[in-house]
Amino acid sequence: MVRMAPSILSADFAALGAEIDRVRPEADWLHVDVMDGHFVPNLTIGPPVVAAIHRHTDTFLDCHLMMTNPGDYLEAFAEAGAGSCSVHVEVGRTSELIEEMRQLRIGVGLAVNPETPIEACEPWMSQIDLLLVMSVHPGFGGQHFMAEAVPKVEWAYDKVRREGLQLSIEVDGGIDSDTVAEMAKAGADTFVAGSAIFGHPDPLAAAEAIRQAALAAVAAR
Ligand code: DX5
Ligand code: ZN
Repeated sequence: MVRMAPSILSADFAALGAEIDRVRPEADWLHVDVMDGHFVPNLTIGPPVVAAIHRHTDTFLDCHLMMTNPGDYLEAFAEAGAGSCSVHVEVGRTSELIEEMRQLRIGVGLAVNPETPIEACEPWMSQIDLLLVMSVHPGFGGQHFMAEAVPKVEWAYDKVRREGLQLSIEVDGGIDSDTVAEMAKAGADTFVAGSAIFGHPDPLAAAEAIRQAALAAVAAR
């Protein structure tokens, strides 16, 4: 499976509805980067903006919570229309956060930073819907792809296959029509791309090209 999740972080926030409409035919999900100025040194989007996007489109909203205290906001994101939330394994309280997301009936994601070993997610892999492997340091769009993330995806994909887990592997950071192939070959199925889509003069064509490159890599796997 290849699922495309354009990241609106690189879209023009003053024209967000129109930006979303431009990529909608290629957007299986929309990736929404929530940054709290604490877990990462940047501030972005909160529940009111998610609610506005949800009123604008019925596309699944994949909310990536780069926050120290996501537990304080899960209910607000669920009410705003988040389809899933991904919390970072680095912030701890993972079991409680997973339980809360289940109770809120949203998709349950666990995200892992480049410097954190993927094995840190292992205890929860049978309980989550989505493993979000970062291939840049979180906080900003437009950074260079870190190839160190590839073996982490391979490790996760191997475990998913061996144990028959129902788990999507999502990759986030520096994904474009070149780097996507490595990640698709390694076993990722959900691809976040921000600057490679919204920084392109034709965002829809860019998203389509990334999807085609991923599909070709999956077919050759
Ligand atoms: C980075 C965010 C990413 C970001 C990716 O902290 O989590 O989702 O939007 O942007 P690109 O695709 O430009 O690396
Ligand atoms: Zn993200």
